Amino acid sequence: MSELKRVLVTGGAGYIGSHVIFALQQTRRYKVISVDNHHNSSPKALERVAKLARDALPADASAQDRDSAEIDVHTVDLTKPDQIRAVFAQYGKGGIWGVIHIAAYKAVGESTEIPLTYYENNVSATVYLLQAAGEFGCTRVVYSSSATVYGTPPVIPIPETTRLEAHSPYGKTKVMCETIIADLCAAEPTRWRGLSLRYFNPGGAHPSGDIGEAPIGRPGNLFPLLAAIAVGRQPNDLKVFGNDYPTPDGTCVRDYLHVLDLAKGHLLALDALAPESKVFDDCPTDARYKAYNLGKGKGMSVLQIVEAMRAETKFDFKYEIVGRRRGDVPDLTADPALAAAQLGFKAEQTLETMCRDLWNWQTKNPKGYDSD
Ligand SMILES: NC(=O)c1ccc[n+]([C@@H]2O[C@H](COP(=O)([O-])OP(=O)(O)OC[C@H]3O[C@@H](n4cnc5c(N)ncnc54)[C@H](O)[C@@H]3O)[C@@H](O)[C@H]2O)c1
Repeated sequence: MSELKRVLVTGGAGYIGSHVIFALQQTRRYKVISVDNHHNSSPKALERVAKLARDALPADASAQDRDSAEIDVHTVDLTKPDQIRAVFAQYGKGGIWGVIHIAAYKAVGESTEIPLTYYENNVSATVYLLQAAGEFGCTRVVYSSSATVYGTPPVIPIPETTRLEAHSPYGKTKVMCETIIADLCAAEPTRWRGLSLRYFNPGGAHPSGDIGEAPIGRPGNLFPLLAAIAVGRQPNDLKVFGNDYPTPDGTCVRDYLHVLDLAKGHLLALDALAPESKVFDDCPTDARYKAYNLGKGKGMSVLQIVEAMRAETKFDFKYEIVGRRRGDVPDLTADPALAAAQLGFKAEQTLETMCRDLWNWQTKNPKGYDSD
């Protein structure tokens, strides 16, 4: 059996990070090192996800398998270069095989109010992380990007070749970080390999209901907001921003995929960074950098999501149609063909499963990780 590869996951305690760690641990091929400052997450998420891995081990699991179920947890702020360097130093040169950089601030509206905070936390932190990683010979990086890099895309479904034109400071931080990683791969093509994963809209939770999305404050995204309303944590006063968009029912259309499908995309991306991978063979230069859409390729409107959550929760959501929200785009549906062809990625789980798993998580944990 080959040795475990150490993979450093930033934002490991967050919604997507905890599900990515679950997927990594399930393979028993990786030793996960989590870095998070818990700005928007609870350390309990890491305890719960490690327990899922431990519980899945057979009685006669090897010492290595047992090791793969434990997470090295570092409470570190990525905007502090000394802290992140100290993590790499602990494992020594060549000690960490790759980085999955998930940590970021992600609220579009907030980013328009405090852009410097977003540029510092999302862009400066990425530079510090890459500097420390490079210093310690860790030159494989998977980056959490977003469909928001496309701004208002001219073609739907959206191919990766679409020009990048984010509208908000948040979206611009994603474009900048992609650019930084691409530049690094171009500058040192024999050292660095990078993949940006442009997430569409993740939803749902692990089916155990042990890990899920637990935002601090009022949820900014539709799925967790509906779950919080149905469980009585938020008032039943959903506002639907605009019903006069050029979409089937006039409300905005997004491409929702199950968070565990999204998490599996990270496993495929890590494999694609391995020396034997062919994904960079068609790159236009010798820089080994690429971006992939991770979506279902199927759009669903705000009202369709409300209806699906009503069917799951039996809760009578009241909503009011209000004016369009500045910066909203009518339709963000992925063209997932490139990720399917080159990574073997497919977001298979249905909208009903996303609603079921989200509701299971929310009812088991009405106050998120503070429920017990
Ligand atoms: N959730 C979505 O709908 C969505 C869509 C597209 C892209 N993304 C991207 O995916 C990533 C994860 O999103 P999420 O929904 O899991 O968010 P999240 O807030 O649940 O997770 C982010 C994690 O990063 C941590 N973090 C933030 N700044 C940090 C810092 N300076 N140092 C250390 N840790 C820090 C937070 O504490 C949190 O645990 C983000 O990069 C986000 O931009 C998310």
